[in-house]
Amino acid sequence: MSYSPSGKRYNEMLYNRVGKSGLKLPAISLGLWQHFGETDVYANCKEIVCRAFDLGITHFDLANNYGNPPGSSEDIIGRILNTELEGYRDEILITTKAGYDMWSGPYGEWGSKKYLVASLDQSLRRMGLDYVDMFYSHRFDPDTPLEETMGALDLIVRQGKALYVGISNYDLENTKKAVQILKDLGTPCLINQPSYSMFNRWIEDGLQDFLEEEGIGTIIFQPMQRGLITNTYLNGIPADRAESLKEIGITEERIAKARKLNEIAVRREQSLAQMAIAWTLRGGRVASVLAGADKILHVEENVKALNNLEFSKEELSEIDEILK
Ligand SMILES: NC(=O)c1ccc[n+]([C@@H]2O[C@H](COP(=O)([O-])OP(=O)(O)OC[C@H]3O[C@@H](n4cnc5c(N)ncnc54)[C@H](OP(=O)(O)O)[C@@H]3O)[C@@H](O)[C@H]2O)c1
Repeated sequence: MSYSPSGKRYNEMLYNRVGKSGLKLPAISLGLWQHFGETDVYANCKEIVCRAFDLGITHFDLANNYGNPPGSSEDIIGRILNTELEGYRDEILITTKAGYDMWSGPYGEWGSKKYLVASLDQSLRRMGLDYVDMFYSHRFDPDTPLEETMGALDLIVRQGKALYVGISNYDLENTKKAVQILKDLGTPCLINQPSYSMFNRWIEDGLQDFLEEEGIGTIIFQPMQRGLITNTYLNGIPADRAESLKEIGITEERIAKARKLNEIAVRREQSLAQMAIAWTLRGGRVASVLAGADKILHVEENVKALNNLEFSKEELSEIDEILK
């Protein structure tokens, strides 16, 4: 059946300005890292993306290596953009990145100009696009001069292949250096994409203050800590998944904390996932939260986090106490 976007798609979503730029991001963005590859069911991917768009999610986050096999998330979003979402490109932000291992040989990862430029060309071909809205250096490369990596971002913008650029997974020191180099080149860093959740608060240690001072926006990933801060494991970890979940930090000890957090979420009349998302948006320091989902129900539930973004002082200290 053909898809026609909801006429109410802009009624409920909150759009936040990205730093001091002209661009706004939906407070909730959809990440296509997991569940949107060749090995996933295309109909499900398409339904999730279309439902997200109906709910006002105008931003889809990708990277060259997303999907199984790597690159297939971009193939899939390209297919959707050229079918269901055809004609809506100007209402949508598409983001991609390069930095991690993508192809064999010395030019298939990290931060050289050779890799970044070639990778974005490949991403554009997979998605059938002329340009992406944002292009990121996905990780800091200790062996390539930062001037070269940032020079590649500047070149890509000047070539018209990306409108804005950003960095992801850079520590504070290298963020500062990257931001200055981009400033000198005349292509400002629009956005930073770090990890952030109740269990992972490293950005509070100086990075957030620096980004605010510089007028750079923040979009955070893994607000639910890959499912830890949701209802999924509150009744315990399935024995056959204990080892694989431990590898991504989902352990009984942490679930015990999640259960206590859930008591606060219940009082706030939110699900634990909703509280996890709302908490990262508290105080307006984060422009958008990247949430992953493999079910429409999860996208719908996550968007409803916006119904309650306020935390009382008591709730915040109770949360801090649990996570201590
Ligand atoms: N820049 C980077 O280096 C980087 C790194 C990682 C991620 N990201 C971005 O961030 C996005 C999100 O990352 P993520 O998927 O790892 O982390 P996440 O958003 O914290 O966790 C998503 C997982 O949580 C579960 N979930 C989502 N909503 C739920 C709900 N309402 N109730 C219960 N479970 C729910 C789903 O797991 P199930 O599969 O168990 O249902 C989903 O796959 C990625 O897609 C990507 O765009 C960026």
